[in-house]
Amino acid sequence: MWSPFLPIASLTAGLLSGFQHSFNISHGAVTRLNYTELSTFTPYIEFARAAYCNPIKIAPGWKCGAACDALPGFIPTLTGGDGAGTQYFYVGYWPTQSAVVVAHQGTDPHKMLAVLTDLKFKFMSLDPILFPDIPSDIEAHSGFVIEHMKTANWILAEVEQLMDEHSSTNVILVGHSLGGALAELDTLFMTLNLPAGTTIRGVTFGTPRVGNVAWATFFDSQVFNFTRINNKRDPVPVIPGRVHGFGFRHPATEIHIQPDGKAVICPDDGVDPQCSDKLVPDAFEGNKSDHNGPYNGILIGTEECTP
Ligand SMILES: *[C@@H]1O[C@H](CO)[C@@H](O)[C@H](O)[C@H]1NC(C)=O
Ligand SMILES: *[C@@H]1O[C@H](CO)[C@@H](O)[C@H](O)[C@H]1NC(C)=O
Ligand SMILES: *[C@@H]1O[C@H](CO)[C@@H](O)[C@H](O)[C@H]1NC(C)=O
Ligand SMILES: *[C@@H]1O[C@H](CO)[C@@H](O)[C@H](O)[C@H]1NC(C)=O
Repeated sequence: MWSPFLPIASLTAGLLSGFQHSFNISHGAVTRLNYTELSTFTPYIEFARAAYCNPIKIAPGWKCGAACDALPGFIPTLTGGDGAGTQYFYVGYWPTQSAVVVAHQGTDPHKMLAVLTDLKFKFMSLDPILFPDIPSDIEAHSGFVIEHMKTANWILAEVEQLMDEHSSTNVILVGHSLGGALAELDTLFMTLNLPAGTTIRGVTFGTPRVGNVAWATFFDSQVFNFTRINNKRDPVPVIPGRVHGFGFRHPATEIHIQPDGKAVICPDDGVDPQCSDKLVPDAFEGNKSDHNGPYNGILIGTEECTP
């Protein structure tokens, strides 16, 4: 359970009523997160890092090196993807948290920037069979939507099976970069498809914007446990843009690791100078090296899957 806060300004203190978008903060107000609080995210960082490993190192055995070693006892039950046409992913059961975990592989920052700055991108509606009762004005980046559709039902069936088998009501979705975008789609997808009463938590790293304003608004109305963690001057979280005809928007909530290593909780997409959108006003002013971390001392990426 994660709840504590360290308000930097007393004026924000009384306004914080909960972890996520129950924030009611004036524009520009961030909340400091101390090292201990940031450390509570370490398991999610390791899960996201393990998603870059070849599935043969994931299942059976959970022998992917440092990331797997950091999460002893995790039982992977399904892996997939080829790391090229389809991102790797895995699903498994995490006994210490009685949780089912789904993790998606990301991609390196050069490829990610190429995809995201490709002006041929299309907004695409979400499939109402996958996303029941989705409002029709919601659109997301076609690249992410198509990638998500490739594995969505396969992963959902495994999650349902594991929840049943372990009488679990906790589901955790993680990913970095493109994997973060897929985990964001999965977080809403699972929320709309799993039984009421399931605790669904999404934690992503260096995630690009996934959908339009309607996407972010609907996501925030349905999902109550979602955290995007962004590192320093990583350019990926600020693309595609909020403006200039793009109209993308992030859902809540961002935790931003500052250039000095301290972390803050950001109230909204694009309002505070310590949060991604203002810290990196233009993706070309960002630093691609920040995309892979370190997140709380841990680098995530293809190079980091080192047994
Ligand atoms: C958020 O997720 C954490 C960890 O799974 C859980 O303890 C907490 O109850 C969740 N909160 C909500 C509002 O679902
Ligand atoms: C971090 O914050 C939590 C909750 O506010 C507090 O209990 C803890 O003592 C703090 N840790 C440090 C090292 O300041
Ligand atoms: C949020 O702020 C508005 C305007 O100050 C206020 O009316 C409302 O009650 C606040 N909501 C919460 C949950 O604090
Ligand atoms: C980019 O980030 C890397 C890693 O943090 C750092 O070593 C480098 O100095 C940064 N480059 C610039 C231009 O700030």
